[in-house]
Amino acid sequence: MASLKFPADLDREVRDQRRARLAPGYAVGVTEEMIHAQVHSFYARVREDAELGAIFNRRIADWDAHLAKLCDFWSSVLLMTGRFHGAPMRAHLQVAEINAPLFERWLGLWADTAQKVCPPEAALLFTARARTIASSLQLGIAASRGEAV
Ligand code: HEM
Repeated sequence: MASLKFPADLDREVRDQRRARLAPGYAVGVTEEMIHAQVHSFYARVREDAELGAIFNRRIADWDAHLAKLCDFWSSVLLMTGRFHGAPMRAHLQVAEINAPLFERWLGLWADTAQKVCPPEAALLFTARARTIASSLQLGIAASRGEAV
């Protein structure tokens, strides 16, 4: 039997569909499955990385919860789902050893993973957005440390 929908449900569905079409990931075919693959593949590599691994492994006690949070983050960024409710700037201000070379290493691994996991146009979007967000995190960190930017 076809399920009946109340007007409020229909409104929400129409709004969700409109928002999805406006999202940056829509035009290049980003899906939740792609985000899951990118995030999980990337952090599997991060955990093994000689420089980044130790930083994460010291702080992340529950990797399943962290990966779910990061999928929500990228879903909000690329598909505008609004699922992420964290505070990335505050989280990174607490990582005392974070610096510019580590950001470059992070971005290199991220881009390399995207090329392996995503179709080319989507990989470019994942990479460009990560670079923009990394720049703003770095600006905030530098300002909080009183460094010249
Ligand atoms: C050198 C580069 C980076 C390092 C070492 C790093 C490290 C970390 C660590 C240790 C956490 C967990 C903090 C905690 O829960 O105590 C974290 C959280 C997070 N990171 Fe990064 N990160 C880096 C770059 C980035 C970049 C470039 C992005 C986005 C493009 C990003 C997105 C996030 C997000 C969304 C969270 C969750 C924040 C929250 O809990 O609200 N990170 N990162």
